[in-house]
Amino acid sequence: MELSKQKIGEIKNKIRKLDAIFSEKRYLESLGSTISIFGRENEAEKIMNFLYPAKDGFSFPFVSVYGKSGTGKSTVVKFICDNMTDVFSYCFVNLRRTDTHFGCANLILENLDGEQVKSSAGINTAINNIEKQIEETLIRDKKSNFILVLDEFDVIFSDKRRKGSDFVYKLLTLVETLRSKSYWLCVVAISNSRLADFPLEERIRSRMDECDVYFPPYTGKDVLQILRERAEKAFADKVDDEVLRECAILSSAENGDCRYALQLLLKTAEITKGPISVSDVRNAYGQLKKDYPEEIVKTVTPHQRVILRAMARMTMLYEEEVFSTKEIFYEYRGLLFRKPKLLEYRRIFDLLNELENLGIIASVKRSEGRYGYHKFYRLLIPYHDVGYMVSKNWDAHQLEIVAEKKSWERSEEEAMFETIKQSKK
Ligand SMILES: Nc1ncnc2c1ncn2[C@@H]1O[C@H](COP(=O)(O)OP(=O)(O)OP(=O)(O)O)[C@@H](O)[C@H]1O
Ligand SMILES: [Mg+2]
Repeated sequence: MELSKQKIGEIKNKIRKLDAIFSEKRYLESLGSTISIFGRENEAEKIMNFLYPAKDGFSFPFVSVYGKSGTGKSTVVKFICDNMTDVFSYCFVNLRRTDTHFGCANLILENLDGEQVKSSAGINTAINNIEKQIEETLIRDKKSNFILVLDEFDVIFSDKRRKGSDFVYKLLTLVETLRSKSYWLCVVAISNSRLADFPLEERIRSRMDECDVYFPPYTGKDVLQILRERAEKAFADKVDDEVLRECAILSSAENGDCRYALQLLLKTAEITKGPISVSDVRNAYGQLKKDYPEEIVKTVTPHQRVILRAMARMTMLYEEEVFSTKEIFYEYRGLLFRKPKLLEYRRIFDLLNELENLGIIASVKRSEGRYGYHKFYRLLIPYHDVGYMVSKNWDAHQLEIVAEKKSWERSEEEAMFETIKQSKK
């Protein structure tokens, strides 16, 4: 169809109509900047206690903030830091944009307004430059305390060529070097898992105090409260409380993930483009359920994509639903055959836990007789959807899997004929 002047006019009207229902749409967006935070006082107080420096600097080099997705970890830490700039200078870095230690160091440098380092210069040069940038920032701000927030910290443990422990060790050394110059650094690691649960070498674990702050999932009531506050600011007209209640109820089924509830409300508004009813929410929920997993899968690390591909492949090949960590590990290894960046078993176990936190897979405990109980995992999204999400060549892979299954059936048939032949002799 021709893209006429009239069509452009129609599209403009559509956009204006949608725009008219919002007063400030950013209040429904995940990255909405100045938002008010509901609750989380206990968690905030714990974090602030760790981050409030004593006269002679921070008492702890590392603080671990952890909990499931959408529980407000990033938002709360950022809010605290923004409001404690009278006490310390800080830098907030989301590590998800990279998957190597070197990449992480360069990202930190970038966020500190430092010049990026070429890979030939090596990671130690990057860390030295981080030290210089922190020093310069503190001199400029006339302060001696610095908070380095590393969001999505699990990325540190995804670099196969380097141990997560080594990077943590470099950070600890950085804390000590700065301390020798009377500057104090504290690293806040935000992740779905507790820092102490990552594979850390003993020499490092022993130097870290247990400074953890856990963010429990929200209840439906908490989510409703958050939605009420946000909706009041986001929409031009008042949204019916029943509508918000429905959003809260439906998203409680998604592990108390506040991000999901906000996305559901936004999606409903975008589809409805006018006053929203409860049935509009249900309708949008159906659509979001289709799109949401894809959005989440986009955020996972490259190794987690391979794990998901392994699970999709096994589900189709064996016509079973649940698999043990060991089975998934061997399939993952098979897929990355001869690739240098294979992760170890323990790390696969951690990555499976993270995928479970994201709500893409679920675990069940099953008895293995005298071997006790073991964890098994299954996909929460249909395997062919997962296949398309994580692999460009899923069509070709499916054909390979079908061929593999056929060859099994053939060999089973041959074995059966062989037995019959033998018995007739
Ligand atoms: N207590 C709260 N009050 C208001 N808004 C909140 C609250 N908690 C979370 N939100 C909103 O929910 C969304 C998700 O929060 P946030 O990104 O902080 O979660 P997270 O725990 O960091 O998740 P992830 O582990 O996926 O990074 C954001 O839009 C945030 O503003
Ligand atoms: Mg976050």
